[in-house]
Amino acid sequence: MSPSSSPSFEGILTQALAELSAVKDASSLQVWRTRYLGRQGEAQKLLDGLKSVPAAERPAAGKAANDFRKALEEAWAAKAGGESAEAAATPGVDPTLPGRPYPSGGVHVVTQTLDRITDIFHRLGFALADGPEIETEHHNFDALNTQPDHPARDEADTFYLDLPPGPHGRWLLRTQTSPVQIRVLENRKPPIKIIAPGRCYRRDEVDATHGIFFHQVEGLCVGEGIGLPHLKGVLEFFFRELMGEGTKVRLRPHYFPFTEPSFEVDCSIPGKTFRGKEWLEIAGCGLVHPKVLRGVGVDPEKFSGYAFGLGVERIAMVRHGIPDLRLFYENDVRFLKQFAAHGAV
Ligand code: DAH
Repeated sequence: MSPSSSPSFEGILTQALAELSAVKDASSLQVWRTRYLGRQGEAQKLLDGLKSVPAAERPAAGKAANDFRKALEEAWAAKAGGESAEAAATPGVDPTLPGRPYPSGGVHVVTQTLDRITDIFHRLGFALADGPEIETEHHNFDALNTQPDHPARDEADTFYLDLPPGPHGRWLLRTQTSPVQIRVLENRKPPIKIIAPGRCYRRDEVDATHGIFFHQVEGLCVGEGIGLPHLKGVLEFFFRELMGEGTKVRLRPHYFPFTEPSFEVDCSIPGKTFRGKEWLEIAGCGLVHPKVLRGVGVDPEKFSGYAFGLGVERIAMVRHGIPDLRLFYENDVRFLKQFAAHGAV
């Protein structure tokens, strides 16, 4: 018996090859393979049937069955190989092209500025402190010596939360990072030297220089014999590091409830003007008011200190020449990409 002399082998082979040539996709190719070459497929059935072939004819029949199986396998392999070559040749798919890059995020320009600021203060020995964004009226205003009729407390300027007042008064979104001064002084004894970066909220009309939220970095240093020369030295070092050699700092008398004396800090940066002016108002500062110290149980006869508050967006605007505050939060990738210092946006 040989494939050519066995009608059953030959008939099945012819049918199998005809079916195979009609196969058009991978799933029907799989169906075909199971049907003919699977464990209970036609080839196996024929091999199993050899048992009933008389012993004398068995070697020839066995060879024929094996040839049959081989013919099916070769036909399948040729088809399967052709299938993948065909798939690869489909227009629009070029497996030799490099993969598509996945865009990865970068650090936001405000965060980069914050990192830079905190880095400089770290070098000056300031530790990081933190406070809640939902504050009490006491911490945000009273403990900072802000009088009950101060305009900043008005509902038109501050976001109050619709919650029952607690032991420290009404709840609000902090309007400044200065309440972190109080939280730190309540919990630790001097000497204290901290900075507190964070987000603040105000009910402002949104325009190029005002938003309803922004970032500040608060600074506080309290110890024995701390005075104005320390404050000025720290600010001068800080602004020179941040804005470059040749940057000048001046303190202009001002009023803040929690410092006495109080100043606004102006900077003059070589080669830069801000809205046509050489001196740019960039921070507030002063010596911590004795009332503030007394309120948290620190003896103002023994300890004194300075405090300052910087606006982060303002600093980022000056450093990068950004004209409009709103650009920071519109999340236009074309804008953000320009500052992708830590990886592509
Ligand atoms: N909290 C002030 C503000 O939001 C900024 C400030 C001024 C903070 C003077 C200070 C300071 O610590 O001493 O306008």
